[in-house]
Amino acid sequence: MLMTDLLRVPAHLLPLVQSLQHAADGRSPVDPATLSGLCPVPQDFQHPSLVHGQRHVARVMVHAFRLLQATGLREHTGALWAAVYLHDLARTHDGVCHRHGADAWTRFEQEAGLREALAPAGLGEDQWRGVKTAVTWHCKWRELPDADPHLVLARLLKDADGLDRVRIRDLDLSYLRFRQTTRMEGFSWALHDYSLTVPEGPELFGRLWAWTLARALRA
Ligand SMILES: [Fe+2]
Repeated sequence: MLMTDLLRVPAHLLPLVQSLQHAADGRSPVDPATLSGLCPVPQDFQHPSLVHGQRHVARVMVHAFRLLQATGLREHTGALWAAVYLHDLARTHDGVCHRHGADAWTRFEQEAGLREALAPAGLGEDQWRGVKTAVTWHCKWRELPDADPHLVLARLLKDADGLDRVRIRDLDLSYLRFRQTTRMEGFSWALHDYSLTVPEGPELFGRLWAWTLARALRA
């Protein structure tokens, strides 16, 4: 990884990016306890749920960082982290819903706690516009127009979210947008199955991450 790549990663997300990079060389993994603030906890969700609740968002977060690593699109690290964190917080039910993305952004604007949680991303105005676009569009029935300046971020969120469709046995690889994502189906099943053995709570994401690194080490 180039030094200039790392300069574009917010400091609080560096342990994730570096540990994924180093896992393949067998270097020491990150301490899961240090990752507890990186994912929302069950109380943050308007509608705590097995389908769209903390386990889902924690898995999507893992997919997002693996996808950033696979595509090399590291300049989107902070914005994608914030978008994954927010995207399902305002769901009120598990059915088809085209508005919970926009509602999540409204919550972000109205709740100081959420803005504080995501402040470490250190995003500029245009990057926040990207997060708003990606979160708002992730649940619309049509894709964001190709000409939109935030298309890449929106597509990264959709693919990371899409990979977790294994949980409802509805992953169709032909809907995925990056060829790198289409190679991650097997991992997604394995992560899903492992995540069901971990209790929800502040430690959940750190445990999924430690499992991801251990698996990368074995690969
Ligand atoms: Fe989602």
